[in-house]
Amino acid sequence: LSADHVRIVEVGPRDGLQNEQSTISLETKIELIERLAKTGITHMEAGSFVSAKWVPQMASTPEVFQSIMSRPPRAPHPIAYNYLVPNLRGAETLVSVLESHETPLTSNHADQAAITSADDPNRMASEKLVPNASQNTTEISLFAAATETFSNKNTNCSIQESLDRCKPILAIAKGKGMQARGYISVALGCPYEGPDVDPHKVAEMTATLLEMGCDEVSVADTTGMGTAPRTRRLLKTLKEAGIQNEDIALHFHDTYGQALVNTVVGLEHGIRTFDSSVGGLGGCPFSKGATGNVSTEDLLHLLHSLGVQTGVSLEKMAEIGAWISGELGRQNDSRAGKATLAR
Ligand code: HMG
Ligand code: MG
Repeated sequence: LSADHVRIVEVGPRDGLQNEQSTISLETKIELIERLAKTGITHMEAGSFVSAKWVPQMASTPEVFQSIMSRPPRAPHPIAYNYLVPNLRGAETLVSVLESHETPLTSNHADQAAITSADDPNRMASEKLVPNASQNTTEISLFAAATETFSNKNTNCSIQESLDRCKPILAIAKGKGMQARGYISVALGCPYEGPDVDPHKVAEMTATLLEMGCDEVSVADTTGMGTAPRTRRLLKTLKEAGIQNEDIALHFHDTYGQALVNTVVGLEHGIRTFDSSVGGLGGCPFSKGATGNVSTEDLLHLLHSLGVQTGVSLEKMAEIGAWISGELGRQNDSRAGKATLAR
């Protein structure tokens, strides 16, 4: 990445939707992903292969994945679709869907492709049966947390156990040639242990995940408790631990309205990958009171005002933010999105 370009990872279809109370239809999820694919976004989280008991909204991820794999390429550029995987079982489910598209389509797959193409009646019948022939890629994300309490609440295991779980999953990902991202939750504040999370613990875990084979680690402010001084201190600690900027992404939730301030701290420090969610959707079911991710529209407005290129259209993103907020019956949490549409 050059210094004038930032890569945005759109997490709306996963982090954005996982915390919604009312059931979201498969069609809405797929439409959201399809719309986002036309904004210029190159990296998108599409779902998670987690327990439906723990996170019911992600139960249809296998169908979402099937749909993405079954569609002919329509975005003008390849997209990396990312899925959260908490354990070996999640990785195996993902791989089974992936492998079902590496062989010629069976009648089952053809049926699935036809069903998931139902929103586009103009598509040629033959197109519906073409497996994903584009350069689109599948990536996985593993997740761990910087405090023991959050680790237990989110994944029902200790920090060490969560790191141990990552090893076989990474072996599977690498065997399939998939990029893997690691997440470290509560890096700037924990809903159970408070704001003073040890930055050295975050640095140690980041190093461990990279050594295990993660291609990047997304350092997450799950609660939005992060402030500019503590974000600066965390990034300084990561640097002192020998972590390269290009190996880090920042994932800010905007609970206290500090996400853009912290983004500027990250930019000044040299970070060039940021996660965000259209319409400011999102939140972690295990972080009570925490609101959505920084909205992609707000992030775009900031970055473009600084002359930083993203390749993503703010106007298109603003329209999607308004549309999905309406679909979910919630207010549009993106100020820049609303202002852009009002112009
Ligand atoms: P557990 O209860 O300890 O494990 O959950 P288990 O093996 O006893 O499984 C419980 C049930 O889930 C069983 O079903 C399993 O079969 C099933 P039952 O037998 O009772 O009917 N199960 C699964 N089903 C589908 N896919 C799977 C799977 N694994 C088990 N992969 C587990 C352990 C890790 C599974 C659970 O804690 C879990 O799913 N946690 C996920 C939590 C989660 O998704 N959190 C939100 C994402 S992280 C996040 O938002 C933070 C992030 O945005 C960054 C930030 O902002 O901080 C990334
Ligand atoms: Mg998050």
